[in-house]
Amino acid sequence: MSDKFLYSLARPLLFSLDPETAHNLTLPLLRSAANLGIPQWITRPVADVRHVMGLSFPNAVGLAAGLDKDGAYIDGLSALGFGFIEVGTVTPRAQPGNPRPRMFRLPAANALINRMGFNNGGVDAFVRNVQSSSFYQEKRGVLGLNIGKNADTPIERATDDYLICLEKVYPYASYVTVNISSPNTKNLRQLQQASELDVLLARLKESQTRLADKHSRYVPIVLKIAPDLSDEQVSTIADALLRYRMDGVIATNTTITRDAVQGLAHADETGGLSGAPVRELSTRVIRALHKQLGDDIPIIGVGGILGADDARAKLDAGARLIQLYTGLIYRGPALVRECAEALARKP
Ligand SMILES: Cc1cc2nc3c(=O)[nH]c(=O)nc-3n(C[C@H](O)[C@H](O)[C@H](O)COP(=O)(O)O)c2cc1C
Repeated sequence: MSDKFLYSLARPLLFSLDPETAHNLTLPLLRSAANLGIPQWITRPVADVRHVMGLSFPNAVGLAAGLDKDGAYIDGLSALGFGFIEVGTVTPRAQPGNPRPRMFRLPAANALINRMGFNNGGVDAFVRNVQSSSFYQEKRGVLGLNIGKNADTPIERATDDYLICLEKVYPYASYVTVNISSPNTKNLRQLQQASELDVLLARLKESQTRLADKHSRYVPIVLKIAPDLSDEQVSTIADALLRYRMDGVIATNTTITRDAVQGLAHADETGGLSGAPVRELSTRVIRALHKQLGDDIPIIGVGGILGADDARAKLDAGARLIQLYTGLIYRGPALVRECAEALARKP
C-alpha cells in the first residue's frame, strides 16, 4: 500500500472538514502512526546529502514553518522522509492568534489563505516540546526553529522579542529562522525595510556571537522574507544579508496579492495566500537574491511547490534546498519523496 493511495482515501474526508479541524485531527494521528512505525514502513527517506550552512542535510526537501507551530509533532513529521524539519513560528509569550475561521482552502487554485496570527504556546513550552522529541534527543536530523514577535509587542520593540526567542531556542536548534515576513502580525513586514533591518541584523549577529561562545557551538541564523517585494527591496535585503554575514535566507513566505485567485470562493479573505499562486512570485525573489548573493549566502526556496518540476525550478533559480507546506495538503506526504527523488537525480 503506497502513501499516495492512502492519501487519495484520506483527502476527501479531510477536505470535508474545516481546514483547521482537519489539521488538528491529522497531526495527532500522524504522531500515533509514527509511534507504530507506519510511515517509516511505507516510505524510506531519500538519501541525497547536501552540505549547506555547515550542516549536513540528509536530502534537500524540508518541512516549512507554520504546520507545527509549537514543535509538538516533530517525531511524527520527521517520519515522512523530510531532509529537515522547521517548526514555529514561536513568540516569547503564548498567544491565541486570530479568531477562527482563519484558514481557508481554494482547491481550484491549489491554494490556502491563512491569517493564523502566530497562535502558539510561547517559547518556554516550545523548547520543552523540542527537548522531549526523539528527533532532537537522538540527533536524527536537521531541525530549524522559527522565531517571531508577539502581536502586542510594539514594532519598535520587535528586536527584543527576537532576541528573547533566539537566546532560548539557540541550544536546541540546528539553525534559527527569523521570520519578518508574516502578513498576519501588524507591521511585521516593515522590518524588511533598510533601517529597521540594519538594527535587527546587527543585534542578532551580536547575540549569535555571544551565544556561540557560551554554548561552544555556532548556530546559523537565516532570514525569512516575503514574496511581495520589489526588485529594489530584494536588492536592499541582499545587501544587508551580505553586510551582516547572515547564514542564509528563506524565500518566501505567503503573498498578500490576490491576482491569481480573483473570483474564487474565499479569495477575499484577509491573510497570506500560499500554494500554486505564490510559486512564480517566490521563484522571482529567489532569482533576484541569487543574482546578488551568488553562492556566498545559501537560499532555501519555498512557495507553491506541488510537484517535482516546481522543486527543480527553485533550484534552477538559485535555491540550495526547498521547503513544502501547502503542497502537502493537496498532494499528501508522497510529495516529499517525489521532490527528493527528482532533486537527487539531478543535483
Ligand atoms: C496555515 C499556514 C501557516 C503558516 N504559518 C507560518 C509561520 O508560522 N511561520 C512562517 O515562517 N511561515 C508560515 N507559513 C508560510 C509557509 O511556511 C510557507 O512559507 C508558505 O506557505 C509558502 O509555501 P507553500 O506554498 O509551500 O505553502 C504558513 C503557511 C500556512 C499555509
